[in-house]
Amino acid sequence: MRIDVLTLFPDSFKPFEESIISRAKKKGVLEINIINIRDFTKDKHKKCDDTPFGGGAGMLMSVQPVYDAVKSVLTKNSKVIFPSPSGKIFNHKIAKEYAQEEHLIFICGHYEGIDQRLIELFNAEEVSIGDYVLTGGELPTMVIIDSLSRFVDGVLSEQSLQEESFSNGLLEYPQYTRPQIFEGLKVPEVLLSGNHQEIAKWRKHQALEKTKKVRPDLIKGDKVED
Ligand code: ADE
Repeated sequence: MRIDVLTLFPDSFKPFEESIISRAKKKGVLEINIINIRDFTKDKHKKCDDTPFGGGAGMLMSVQPVYDAVKSVLTKNSKVIFPSPSGKIFNHKIAKEYAQEEHLIFICGHYEGIDQRLIELFNAEEVSIGDYVLTGGELPTMVIIDSLSRFVDGVLSEQSLQEESFSNGLLEYPQYTRPQIFEGLKVPEVLLSGNHQEIAKWRKHQALEKTKKVRPDLIKGDKVED
């Protein structure tokens, strides 16, 4: 899968040089290009912001450099995503859908956002990572890429995907590792029993109890689907 990220702050994407994402890039299952929108400005002072028509606080990103940056990577199979607090709420299901795409283009907004016509021209999908406002689109873009990349073939093992939170509509059961007793707290006996049927039963029960307590909305089935 290929992902192009258009941003005014390319250095923000240094975290992609670490861990699973970096391994996926090296393995060739994920290609991520970070593109500086400022390289596309035709303004002699390299300006990339402009005032909103109708007045109001703050600035918008200039139309021309964003438009040209998108055009430079757009193909007929591209899906354009604009992370924004005004978008639909991102979740596990959307992450899985994005992972099936051939090519994603992320526009990282800054200042007060982008001109509505850019959203319309590129049929950009507005997506929010939660009901709060961040200072720019870089963090949401990283969150979305990180989470979708886990569903790209070859990035993770099949088992780790099946057993994680949300994969069956529930939060994940609690996990334990060595030592068997730590600070006086014991690992639940059933996990040491070697009885896989009992372990699976216990885990399912724990996942259900945790979900009921922390995220009852998921039990009603109105948020997360497989
Ligand atoms: N940009 C600023 N805040 C955001 C949010 N909550 N989700 C996605 N993009 C954003």
